Amino acid sequence: MTDRKTARPAGQSEPLSEPLSEPLGEPLGEPLGEPLSEPRSKPLSEKPPDQPRDGSPLHAKDRAWSGRFSEPVAQFVLSYTASIGFDQRLARADIQASLAHASMLAAVGVLSAVDLARIEQGLAQVWTEIEAGTFEWRVALEDVHLNVEARLTELAGEAGKRLHTARSRNDQVATDLRLYLRREVDRLLEEIGAVQGSLVELAAAHTDTVMPGYTHLQVAQPVTFGHHLLAYVEMLERDRERFVDARGRLNRLPLGSAALAGTTFPIDRERVARDLKFEAVCQNSIDAVSDRDFAIELCAAGALMMVHLSRLAEELVLWLSPGFGFIELPDHLTTGSSIMPQKRNPDVAELARGKSGRVIGHLVALLTLIKGQPLAYNKDNQEDKEAVFDTVDTLHATLRAFAELVAGIRVNRDAMRRAALQGHSTATDLADYLVRRGVAFRDAHEAVARAVRRADELGCALPQLPLQELQALAPQIGADAFEVLTLEGSVAARDHVGGTAPSQVAAQVRCWQKALEQRAALTPNPSPASGRGE
Ligand code: ARG
Repeated sequence: MTDRKTARPAGQSEPLSEPLSEPLGEPLGEPLGEPLSEPRSKPLSEKPPDQPRDGSPLHAKDRAWSGRFSEPVAQFVLSYTASIGFDQRLARADIQASLAHASMLAAVGVLSAVDLARIEQGLAQVWTEIEAGTFEWRVALEDVHLNVEARLTELAGEAGKRLHTARSRNDQVATDLRLYLRREVDRLLEEIGAVQGSLVELAAAHTDTVMPGYTHLQVAQPVTFGHHLLAYVEMLERDRERFVDARGRLNRLPLGSAALAGTTFPIDRERVARDLKFEAVCQNSIDAVSDRDFAIELCAAGALMMVHLSRLAEELVLWLSPGFGFIELPDHLTTGSSIMPQKRNPDVAELARGKSGRVIGHLVALLTLIKGQPLAYNKDNQEDKEAVFDTVDTLHATLRAFAELVAGIRVNRDAMRRAALQGHSTATDLADYLVRRGVAFRDAHEAVARAVRRADELGCALPQLPLQELQALAPQIGADAFEVLTLEGSVAARDHVGGTAPSQVAAQVRCWQKALEQRAALTPNPSPASGRGE
């Protein structure tokens, strides 16, 4: 029976250099090595175990479920109901939670110290096998929980069979998913910070680079490129806040709820919560096993973030197109065409725009999944996993892509400036000038609109209209009006908090640089790809 034969039976495994009880303070951190975001795995084993080697009911599951049934479960039922093909990635969280549960059971006297030691050793061995890719995942054992438990029982014997005392897969999976998501959120927060960092650095170099600001994708008013970039930093900051906020509600312990009603054993849920670094214990067992609102909230925050990133993606696509020509990307961040030799395509940005649809889809799928479910746990909930996992993967990949893309942007200042000179972009400045000369805004608006029309008739830009032409429309206009009609004059005049003036943008850049630096200093593992966020 494959690699399992090679594994040492319980009691004979090498003592771990780091005791497994250690991770309870720092859940499965260093002692179990650099975690894999997805356990490496052998192909799923479809075959049922030949013999129930240790008499564990888990090994006989394909033949009879816990002795309750008189005939084997149909093959299609096994494969239809199995989640092991995708929930393997909960293994780390599952083992963490089992360690905390076992330790608590021993502390309250439900489990002997000897059994606890065997379980701890066995689970360490299970994790080693999972990390090494030698663990044999079996469809017949349905999901990650039963696969881990069955292997543990092979390794630890009776002790392994005692682990499931005072819990159910219902509170187990709810706990695992929360642990998994908490860790992923922490990584997402770092990755958001990296994108913000790239945007802020680019903004720092372009506090006074003028570009056209658009409404309706028509040239509206000149803005500074730095200001435009910082708009995305603000959006991402609110996305970040939403993740942090959702993390707070997520970080509560369902374990101890058992199937739905709690357990008859004298469990210490606070202790388990402390071990697993949950901030609180879920106060209602029925709610704790049945709701997945925490996953929905994260997908909602993720969907909104993808919507924000899709807007930036769209702008990158536009700015890169020859019609705009505002920016360039280095070759290693663009792709070619298989037929048109001259093409350089912004595929990454386009895909990010496209992938936003997929994350929004997952959010809708999750909402629909929970809608109308009677309390408490229903198997429907197993369907949450793929949506959640794909959301998490898409968010990580997209954030990493944007950190690189933005850092790679090269700006064509002249193209931006030329475009800003189009469309009479400083017309509002002339209206504001007239207002300062005592003209009511509506009248000023009307006079400038006529000036724009006149400029169009003469085929020139508004600032090129002769003074006499302007004065014919509004006698209050003096020669100094031409200063407010320049791009630089226009942006510099918007000198208040939130305005596009270079001095304001520079101040904002400094604020963000400071905030991001402080945040990075607080983060234990500042590398976005570190994968460790406990
Ligand atoms: N794989 C299941 C899930 O993801 C675990 C819980 C199964 N519970 C049960 N009573 N069948 O939801």
